[in-house]
Amino acid sequence: MELTDALRTTGAVRAFADEPVADATLHAILDTARFAPSGGNRQPWRVAIVRELDTRREMASLMRTVWEEYVGANATGVTAFAFGRSIDAPPIAAPNPLLDAIDTIPVVLAVAADLRSIAMMDGNLDRPPVTGGASIYPFCWSILLAAREHGLGGVLTTFLSRAEPAIAPRLALPADHALVATIFLGRPVHQNTKLRREPVNSFATIDRFDGDSFDA
Ligand SMILES: Cc1cc2nc3c(=O)[nH]c(=O)nc-3n(C[C@H](O)[C@H](O)[C@H](O)COP(=O)(O)O)c2cc1C
Repeated sequence: MELTDALRTTGAVRAFADEPVADATLHAILDTARFAPSGGNRQPWRVAIVRELDTRREMASLMRTVWEEYVGANATGVTAFAFGRSIDAPPIAAPNPLLDAIDTIPVVLAVAADLRSIAMMDGNLDRPPVTGGASIYPFCWSILLAAREHGLGGVLTTFLSRAEPAIAPRLALPADHALVATIFLGRPVHQNTKLRREPVNSFATIDRFDGDSFDA
């Protein structure tokens, strides 16, 4: 695929054809994604390719609990789990076809990051650090872009991260590692290519964040 096309049209895919992904294809995807950048080039990623049904089901069950908590919090009109906001809304039971299909999703990847290899540049500030994520999420995004080249699609999810302590033993998550994402891949039933994103002048300004909006 042409790069700009891939960047502009790689929407989330949550429904997959009943068609396996060959190990060689998944290997090729990871082999491309490993060229992602990371702070100090420390490449902190670890990937577990989750095939065991019992593990998948435990993951889905934990994700469903978080999903319902998320839907409940979102129903209040605030961004669920946003920093500085406590959630006192009750969970709301809501369908999640992605999780219902956990047994048959062609590829389920648990992605972890070795925290000992990540320089948390903003770790000294009086707010949650975010720069550390920049050493791992480009890798995750590269998996999704590389999958596209093979006619595959998928979605990066973080709901399992909220339940990291509960799933850590089952995945043998190493000490000092964070579970940063669960990525689902397969042949899309439908690849959404018309993505809803805000225009450049809504987020880019000159000189300062309160400067004139940037237009060309
Ligand atoms: C950091 C991050 C976390 C996400 N977590 C979840 C998640 O827990 N569950 C889920 O279904 N999708 C998750 N997504 C997918 C987003 O919902 C999706 O990228 C966004 O809605 C844009 O969708 P689109 O590309 O189809 O327009 C996540 C995406 C990112 C980048």
